[in-house]
Amino acid sequence: MAQLTRPATDSTPAKGFRSAELGWPELDRIPHPPRRLPLIGDVLGANVRTPVQDSMRIGRQLGPVFRRKAFGNEIVFVWGARYAADLADESRFAKHVGLGVANLRPVAGDGLFTAYNHEPNWQLAHDVLAPGFGRDAMAGYHPLMLDVAGRLMAAWDAREAAGEAVDVPGDMTKLTLETIARTGFGHDFGSFERERPHPFVSAMVGTLSFAQRRNVVPPALAPLLLRGAERRNAADMAYLNRTVDEVVAARRAGAGRPTGAQGDLLDRMLEVAHPDTGERLSPENIRRQVITFLVAGHETTSGALSFALHYLAHHPDVLAKAREEVERVWGDTDEPAYEQVAKLRYLRRVLDEALRLWPTAPAFAREATVDTTLGGTHPMRRGAWALVLTSLLHRDPEAWGEDPEAFDPDRFAPAAVRSRAPHVFKPFGTGARACIGRQFALHEATLVLGLLLRRYDLHPEPGYRLRVVERLTLMPEGLRLNLGRRARVRTAD
Ligand code: HEM
Repeated sequence: MAQLTRPATDSTPAKGFRSAELGWPELDRIPHPPRRLPLIGDVLGANVRTPVQDSMRIGRQLGPVFRRKAFGNEIVFVWGARYAADLADESRFAKHVGLGVANLRPVAGDGLFTAYNHEPNWQLAHDVLAPGFGRDAMAGYHPLMLDVAGRLMAAWDAREAAGEAVDVPGDMTKLTLETIARTGFGHDFGSFERERPHPFVSAMVGTLSFAQRRNVVPPALAPLLLRGAERRNAADMAYLNRTVDEVVAARRAGAGRPTGAQGDLLDRMLEVAHPDTGERLSPENIRRQVITFLVAGHETTSGALSFALHYLAHHPDVLAKAREEVERVWGDTDEPAYEQVAKLRYLRRVLDEALRLWPTAPAFAREATVDTTLGGTHPMRRGAWALVLTSLLHRDPEAWGEDPEAFDPDRFAPAAVRSRAPHVFKPFGTGARACIGRQFALHEATLVLGLLLRRYDLHPEPGYRLRVVERLTLMPEGLRLNLGRRARVRTAD
């Protein structure tokens, strides 16, 4: 079996950036942008701040499999439905920790998101933490989610009364950070009591943006071009570590312990041993996991809620239908029960459709675990990898029809889903390394959207056009909505 850089006897895949020419023997058959320059590559017209939207533009021109090169590093991108479905085959492909994900290793180490497949701490943490997302655990988080949503609505009531628009991504970030912090770690960041984002959020955004910038700066020039940014990033990482150490120390001292029998994620990290091996997470690994969950557990959900609110505000017919469902299923109860959230089937379709158009984690990487051929067309050596451009996969006309840009939640009606090929909707990644927090995110987002639709009319700011900002994740930029407080509908007993 051919292998990239290591002897065949070593089963550990190579680390570091693996440029495509190492692993794709017939790379020449994969198109790249015209006007490729010697040494620097395909950088003409590229915008370092919007690598995903740039790649979407280029992908539309070049087709379902294409490549881009910057400063000697070449990446194969895949967005065609058939090829992406092939990459989902776990018997030949696995997660590749590269690019932005690998750039997060200095802060998230072998935490669940950034761990290499072969690192023992991945399986250990996965097995210990997965029950923390099971049905019973989720039902235990539900009252806390309601409580945080109540804080958001108190803040929005005040804005509405003052006749002021709300900052949607800013407030969704407060909501989702408080939700994961309270449910997972018994911690209160007090986000709603602050005007400006919590410093944890600023440090996180700094770290994510830095990881994205490192993708586009050639390593040889990084010391020169990124010196200031490296210093700021070191300060951001130190702040994240310090915050997390305080949260863990407080729990060890007995603070913030949940009352239910289930315990929370932090309890699991500190106290639960692996069911088979009896092994526990080390203190250093717990630090990595807490950072991972605090970041992965809120940034993408915040974006998903923000995009959904944008589309709801711009599609009054969809909003009316979703609101009618909430009122029918929930009645006028202030506190919908856990089971009532999953019953909002249409609202879930709205969320899915927002995640289709703007999957807030917009790409994931897959590597060949054996010598193979992608989609029966492109040979790959073991260790070769490709980036699945989810945001464009979700617009492939082969899977989504001739008007993939149109916002239409009915694409997720059961019959429509059944008629589509599998593996064409991947906002949560794929396989063993898919998102562990999927149910958590969907429950939280559906609950909050239901509560907001029932309470407020949503009015877009005149002239707002969706702009998407990138920092590894996607977020609508400058999205503000004006609110109208709705009269409460009382249902008959
Ligand atoms: C709408 C919200 C979310 C989206 C779109 C999302 C998306 C993703 C994606 C695409 C991956 C796979 C990445 C890859 O293959 O490299 C992933 C993994 C992960 N996500 Fe999420 N996520 C969301 C919410 C959450 C939440 C709420 C949590 C935690 C409470 C979470 C924790 C994680 C973790 C720990 C992993 C790594 C899993 C592993 O490799 O074992 N995510 N997520």
